[in-house]
Amino acid sequence: MPHFRRQRRALDRNRPLCRAVDDAPKPEHAYEPGGILIGSLRKGSFSRSIAQAAIDVAPQHMRARVVEIGDLPIYNEDLDSNPPAAWRRFREEIASVDGILFVTPEYNRSIPGGLKNAIDVGSRPQDASIWKGKTASVISVTPYKLGAFGANHALRQTFVFLDMPALQQPEAYIGNVKDLLDDTGKLRDEGTKAFLVRFMRAFADRIAALSEWDPVPQKGDRTRCARPQGEMRKSIGG
Ligand SMILES: Cc1cc2nc3c(=O)[nH]c(=O)nc-3n(C[C@H](O)[C@H](O)[C@H](O)COP(=O)(O)O)c2cc1C
Repeated sequence: MPHFRRQRRALDRNRPLCRAVDDAPKPEHAYEPGGILIGSLRKGSFSRSIAQAAIDVAPQHMRARVVEIGDLPIYNEDLDSNPPAAWRRFREEIASVDGILFVTPEYNRSIPGGLKNAIDVGSRPQDASIWKGKTASVISVTPYKLGAFGANHALRQTFVFLDMPALQQPEAYIGNVKDLLDDTGKLRDEGTKAFLVRFMRAFADRIAALSEWDPVPQKGDRTRCARPQGEMRKSIGG
């Protein structure tokens, strides 16, 4: 869908603020694809564990899957005329999703080179960037205390030039991540799980607000606008 149509819908003042559960679209039409990029390439990555936990708690009507970046050759303009197969595979996968969740560690107070490379690969050729208009969200992850704030915000800086509308709240800075996982790398911390539920719900809602798709009300919802302002304002480890 053209980018400007999404923006226009988001700004449509006539759109009802509340929608009764009975008005929900049929479940078979009600899904939202989200792509997840993981900034770490290592086996046993904490970021991958958090990404999996986010997939596990994503709203039922949201399809989320990891798009791999580890096989992408380093971006080189000379290859644009005959792009490597891995670049083409990556660009096609991203083109098929409406929202991108970045789950990343911090390297030297910025994002890992592999993730930056994936962003660069997707941004070219210049008139065919795959990022434009796609809703972005960020979870930064670290075993240390500061929540990888530097990586989180370095990434957000790229969204400006890439023209990606970003989920602003809740912010997600996951610090001390080792303490939140069990020995198999599964998220065991209930507080973080509950936070991820809210985060993924907000992400799905934001994608929906910027696309033609309408989200399905969840069990217990009376209307789509019942959430009080400020409830989503929570971050972890920041
Ligand atoms: C090259 C390099 C630079 C790093 N720089 C930072 C940093 O700036 N801030 C931070 O919190 N952790 C830093 N770390 C530690 C990572 O947070 C840690 O290795 C983490 O486990 C990586 O994420 P992963 O488990 O998903 O691979 C760095 C690690 C590497 C390998």
